[in-house]
Amino acid sequence: WFADVPTAPKDPILGITEAYLANTRPDKINLGVGAYRDDDSKPVVLNVVREAESRIAGANFMEYLPIGGLKAFNDLSVKLAFGEDAECIKEGRVAAVQSLSGTGSCRLMAEFMARYMPGAKIWIPKPTWSNHHNIWKDAGVKEAIYKYYKPETRGLDQEGLLEDLSTAQPGDVVLLHACAHNPTGVDPTVEQWQEISTLMKEKKLFPFFDMAYQGFASGDCTRDAQAIRTFLKDGHQLGCSQSYAKNMGLYGQRTGCFSLITASAQETTSVESQMKAIARPMYSNPPLHGALLVKEILGDAALKQQWYEEVKGMADRIITMRALLRKNLEALGSPLPWKHITEQIGMFCFSGISPEQVDRLAQEHAIFMTRNGRISMAGVTTKNVDRLAEALHQVTTS
Ligand code: LMR
Repeated sequence: WFADVPTAPKDPILGITEAYLANTRPDKINLGVGAYRDDDSKPVVLNVVREAESRIAGANFMEYLPIGGLKAFNDLSVKLAFGEDAECIKEGRVAAVQSLSGTGSCRLMAEFMARYMPGAKIWIPKPTWSNHHNIWKDAGVKEAIYKYYKPETRGLDQEGLLEDLSTAQPGDVVLLHACAHNPTGVDPTVEQWQEISTLMKEKKLFPFFDMAYQGFASGDCTRDAQAIRTFLKDGHQLGCSQSYAKNMGLYGQRTGCFSLITASAQETTSVESQMKAIARPMYSNPPLHGALLVKEILGDAALKQQWYEEVKGMADRIITMRALLRKNLEALGSPLPWKHITEQIGMFCFSGISPEQVDRLAQEHAIFMTRNGRISMAGVTTKNVDRLAEALHQVTTS
């Protein structure tokens, strides 16, 4: 039956973890997947999550959720993304379902586009998180690419971005990373977001924000939603994918929210019903435990405040590691510019090293990262930063 099934290539991100696990060096370092580690390289469960767990202990969380998930969780999530006082929420213009984290939200959007936005292309930045391409391709939606990153400046190619998006057709959807762009760590400034929003309004393009890192860019969840708020102020209808994997550390709980802003409360009813109709044959209904934890945290002012502080703590540790990595490379006398390490934000540093140099880091130093040169800064610690800097120095200079 299966003789003709070829072996699939390894995933460019999750495949790195497999290579890391297979390596036997005791000092190996995994800087592949974007998963937060503390300064002892240990995975972290936030104290606020532990508190929420203790509050829900004993509840029956073995029951099915409805297809659209936990309503209170969805309501709190869209408030976090769009603002407590967002007009669209007050007017009942947000259709939302609980999703299987960021990937699940994007996949629901892709399927929704295939059914209800016929002919619309998805515009994807170059580069982007590798799974974005798979998601829209598997849903049968055509993709178009817009320029985003300029290797020469290691910054945003705003001119190229605007130029490419101005060639999109009315009704096309543009995938935007709401903050902490993955993999580059390069975000538009407030003024650049404004320009993007204005152009997209003029061109009648639909914005879809992938917000996988709210809180991780600046340590402030409201500031990290600023791009979305700019688009809302300009009167866009938009879509949003939210994930609590990174900012609450709920990685394996697959906890997220997919929302679309509609034109009226009546439209919300139809759109939400179709979101559920898409979800039901795919996975029936989403998992309960993570959603209960998020509801507990976002629904309680004190816990929410504690969460804000803990996200900021994670973001700040990463910022400190950026400074240390750059300082070490400069102290080693590296002739290359490393300013971008501290200028980029979020979980990743787009180092600028070549795929061959990445391979050497793995083979000669047991340091693993994706072949596009992306370093997951969340895995850098005071204990491994020296070794990382020395290895980077070696492979970039000899
Ligand atoms: C990453 O980019 O490393 C994360 O978003 C994890 C993933 O699922 O790829």
